[in-house]
Amino acid sequence: MLDLTPYINLLKSGEIVAFPTETVYGLGADAWNPSAVKKVFKAKGRPADNPLIVHISNEKQMEDFASEIPESAKTLMTEFWPGPLTLILKKKPKVLDLITAGLDTVAIRMPDHKLALQLISSTGPLVAPSANKSGRPSPTNPKHILNDFGQNFPVLDGGATEIGLESTVLDLTSEIPVILRPGKIGKKEIEAVLGSDVNINSTEKSDSPKSPGQKYSHYKPKASVRYGEISSIENDTLYLVQNTFPESKNVISYDGNLALLSKELYDRFRQADIEGYSTVFIEKLDLFRKKFPAFYTALTNRISKAAD
Ligand code: TXA
Ligand code: MG
Repeated sequence: MLDLTPYINLLKSGEIVAFPTETVYGLGADAWNPSAVKKVFKAKGRPADNPLIVHISNEKQMEDFASEIPESAKTLMTEFWPGPLTLILKKKPKVLDLITAGLDTVAIRMPDHKLALQLISSTGPLVAPSANKSGRPSPTNPKHILNDFGQNFPVLDGGATEIGLESTVLDLTSEIPVILRPGKIGKKEIEAVLGSDVNINSTEKSDSPKSPGQKYSHYKPKASVRYGEISSIENDTLYLVQNTFPESKNVISYDGNLALLSKELYDRFRQADIEGYSTVFIEKLDLFRKKFPAFYTALTNRISKAAD
């Protein structure tokens, strides 16, 4: 079994460590140590006005961060935690302003990953943005992190992540809950559990203080990203197709499996850069929307941001 002791010791001494979750790898730091949290922003090159998610390993830890835990949050925690759902709640005054970027709310989630939960049980709550340099695709395996931060960067290796796209971010502080970032857990599922409507606001481009992360460009490879109908195959382009083309080195078929495309998308973005493609072209996903509504919404959100 993997010995977590060195990673636990680093985190306890105020250092940053990358660790796996079920979505993407996080860049962890002790949520109560301001100098550790600062290191996260510095290492990523992340703007200070983009707040971080607090990762916990048991529900009791919520009480140190959230000033109120509404019934809706309890219902969602019971249904979806541990899992890829981040809840935005009113924060306690003692939560570091660095984490929340001065907002009066805090983002919290309990990741569904054995190593992450084991780690956090020993260290206490960790802030963890995706473990990529700002503006780069989120890392879905340790190699991505070493590429961004150097070969000696401390990474707790859990292999490739299962989901591959970041968690659904749900704001519970407004009268009607709002999805600020779509993910594997979709609007319909959340509505079914809550028994009430949920809004979605993921395409917003303003600097609304409600969704600070949305105004920054994200998830971008160096290659340009295109989405739509494919009419011919060019050699300088990496194609992610559904079923209409014969496979070749630069044509990868997903057969309408949007879960698999989600899992591999960021790795394909990075592959395109490493192999020198000028473009990544993703064939339209509309035919598979009904079968994979949440993945469809999350994928088209990430693809449209990368294509900006
Ligand atoms: O799946 C995930 O959520 C991954 C893994 C590591 O847990 N983490 C992740 O973190 O994607 P990050 O920092 O890359 O994205 C966090 C998002 C950002 O868009 C940020 O603006 C938003 O959550 N966020 C954080 N705190 C917020 C708050 N108080 N109000 C509104 N949005 C917030
Ligand atoms: Mg990120």
